[in-house]
Formats: sequence, structure tokens, C-alpha cells
Amino acid sequence: MFPLANGVEILRVGGRRFAWNAHTGRHLPWPSDDVVSPALLHRMADEGMARGTELDPASLVPCRQWLAMWIGDVLWHADPRSTTPGGRAWRALPLAGWEAAAWAHANDARTTGDIARAIGRPIDELLSFFSRLTAFPVQALQLRRGHPRRGDEGLRRQLAEPVATASRDPSMYDGGGATALADWHHAIPQAHRHFDDVETTVAHALERPHPGLGGRPYGEALGRLFARRGWLSGRVVEVGAGSGAVAEGVCRAAPRLDYTRVDLSPALLAAQDARLPGTLGLLGSATTLPLPDASVDFLFANEVIADLASSPTATGWDNTGAQDFLAEIRRVLRPGGHYWLSEFGTIDDEAEEATALGHPEVSIQFADLAAHAASLGLAARLEPLADALGLDLAAPQLWRGSYEGLRAYLRATGGDIEARAWHPGNLELPFPVDGLHWVTLADRGPGPLVTRFYVLSSG
Ligand SMILES: C[S@@+](CC[C@H](N)C(=O)[O-])C[C@H]1O[C@@H](n2cnc3c(N)ncnc32)[C@H](O)[C@@H]1O
Repeated sequence: MFPLANGVEILRVGGRRFAWNAHTGRHLPWPSDDVVSPALLHRMADEGMARGTELDPASLVPCRQWLAMWIGDVLWHADPRSTTPGGRAWRALPLAGWEAAAWAHANDARTTGDIARAIGRPIDELLSFFSRLTAFPVQALQLRRGHPRRGDEGLRRQLAEPVATASRDPSMYDGGGATALADWHHAIPQAHRHFDDVETTVAHALERPHPGLGGRPYGEALGRLFARRGWLSGRVVEVGAGSGAVAEGVCRAAPRLDYTRVDLSPALLAAQDARLPGTLGLLGSATTLPLPDASVDFLFANEVIADLASSPTATGWDNTGAQDFLAEIRRVLRPGGHYWLSEFGTIDDEAEEATALGHPEVSIQFADLAAHAASLGLAARLEPLADALGLDLAAPQLWRGSYEGLRAYLRATGGDIEARAWHPGNLELPFPVDGLHWVTLADRGPGPLVTRFYVLSSG
């Protein structure tokens, strides 16, 4: 057996093995055949994990895990042993006064020795406290040989069980294995919090004014874009209007529009009706639109087409529902009419089923869909959604892990938080929090990854 340093053990996590250093909270992948290569031996020595290579703890730099934050009077951290599709379990670790001071001093730059001197505690006492934070079930801290480098991902992830794939109801597929979500949409029980708790869309995450959109909400930014392209006149139809937030923004960009919404969900349609009194709501499907031939000037659907059927193929999926929708668009558009479809997907890569949601959505293979549009005689232009909107991807938003931690804390104390791309200018909390992380809109926030979204439109 390879001689491991004191405090190092081999752990099995998520079906794989890791060398785990309880003193530092650091880990390395461990080979299944137990054979330590020269490269691994080098890394083991670097991390003080091989016997005889132990590091001097006083010189190590305590670095805070991003999935740990100070709220109220507790250290609030994700539990790496409990990861579910709905998120991680979070736990409170109460700290004594001097322990809280030690945590506050840990700034990814000071060494353990610096902190012991600053708070006037013996180094052994401090190390014993830090070992509670580096322990596998907590992982709130890592002791490193230096400060983290820019872009270092190691503090964002705990050594944890992988998030399980959400279970799927067989009724969400037809006999041939194609996704079939009509019944699921009909049965959406209520609109309130649907886009916070069940599926968060880009439009929902950006429903509040955001610096990335020049201080506008998503719906209004989209409306202004449609207006610039000259599409907001005559009869405008939105398919799958969700909460009605996009419709509200588009109608603000062009008041007195002749605006029709078509949706499959009675609950969402009712919420839209209440929010958008001057518009018409129709219960119906994208693939059999309740609209006469050649009656629409502009039709759009924001984050809807991945909900339509996709059929399994030998290598992946065919977005058959989106193709049927295009045929309907072709039928209802007036000559010279325009359309816009935005959704998550890829240009050329195989479509794939999203595993995190409780219902099967399949990404869109946009090059295929554009070719299909062209074969129907529709103009077909592809562009990234962020480019079309002029979205500033460098603008800040709350990091997904920080959002999950806040949400768990608020829920544990009788509150809640909406799934928005919060930024430092609009996140107001009733208590101070130390340890929130801000990332850019190109990174993971409370909503979907916007860089994965594309638009197929008439150009
Ligand atoms: C993921 S939500 C998007 C909502 C909104 N457009 C947004 O971006 O936040 C999908 C919307 O499309 C509706 N929908 C799903 N399948 C549909 C279909 N086949 N026909 C019409 N509406 C559909 C849903 O009820 C819901 O309103």
C-alpha cells in the first residue's frame, strides 16, 4: 500500500476514488488500480499527501470555499453528502466569537500563522478549529500553499456526490420514445413561482432591469429589438408566453399592439390574461395553431421549442416538434411576415436531453432546424441570443451556488427568493451576508446559461 501522510485517506465518492487530505480539505483523483504514477506522486508531494511530504500548517493559506458563507451568526455551508436535482442540502455551523473572527480573517491571502497572530490565539487551537471546516462533510475551507489563481475552479466545487438525474415520468414520452409534454403543460397547477421553482427561463432570470441589458428588463429589450427590425406592426403572435413577462415588455416597446398569445397551459394562460388585459389569449398548441392561414405579421416564441416533441434517432434526437411548428408558422404568416424562435441548443452538435429538469426538454440542433425552415421556403438566419440582444456578457450576476445557499437559508427561516440574475445593485437582504460571489452573465447564475441560447429568425 502506498505510504499516505497522516490525515490522508482514500475515499469513494460518486463511484470514483479520491485521495482526501483532512488537514487541508484538498483531494486528488486516485487510480482504480492503486498504481501511483510519477505525475501523481509529484502532485501528492505537492499537496503534502505522501508520507514524509507533510506541509507546515502555519505557512498555508486558508481559502474559503465558495459554497460557504457567513449569515447572521452561523457559517452556512453546502453539505457535499447531499446533492439532489432540487439542489444541495445546506447546514449551519455555529461558531464561537474568536472562531468567527478567524473565519473573517481568512481572505485567501493571509496564512494560518498570520491569522493566529492577528486574533491572538495559539496556532494549534486555530488549526484544530480549521480542521472542523476542512472536514469532508463541511468543506468550507481549504488550506493551500498559496492564494488561488484567477479562474481557479477548485474553490467552487466540493468533493461531492454528483447531482442525480431527475426522475422521469414515463408518460412524458410516447410509445416511440419521443418527448411528449402536452399533458404536463396542461397540468401545470399554478403560475405563481413556476419559473422560480420548476423551470427558470432567461426571460424570467432577467425580468428585472439588468445592467447587461442597458438597465432594461429582458422583455423590453426584446421588444425594442423587434421594433428596430420593423416587426411590431399588424398582428403579432407570441406562442408560449409563460408568465407574460416578455409580452409585457414587448407591449411597452410598442403600445397599442394587436397582440395574441397562444399557450398550452390553462394556468399560465390565466396568469397572462390577468397581467395583459389589452391582449388576446388562446388555449392551443404550437403545432396546431388556432389561427387562420396567412393571418399573422410577426410570430415569436421565446424558450418554447425545446418543450415540443423530439424523437430519438440512432445518434441523438430530431427536433420534430419544432419542425412541425415551423410548418405552422409558414401556414399562418402573411407573405412578407416575420418569425423569431429562441431556445437553448447548439449550431452543429447533437441535440441532447437536459437532465436537471423534472421534465424532458431536448436542446435544439439549430443548423438542422434552419435547413428545415429553408426547405419550407422561410428565410432562416441563425445568431447567438446574446449577440442579437446586445447583451453585455461581462455584466455581473449572483453566482448560482450563492443563490442556492441564500435560497436554502431563506427557506429554512420562513422566507424565499425569486430566481433572478441578481446583481449588486438590486439584491437587498434583511441581514448581512459575507461570502456571496458575483460572476458574469456568461457564467452560471440563477437562470440558464445564456451563452447556450440561439435564435432562428427570418432575419
Ligand atoms: C419554458 S416556458 C417559456 C415561457 C416564456 N416564453 C419565457 O421565456 O419565460 C414554455 C411556455 O410554452 C408553453 N408551451 C409549451 N408547449 C407548448 C405548445 N406545444 N404549444 C403552445 N405553448 C406551449 C408553456 O405552457 C409555457 O408557457
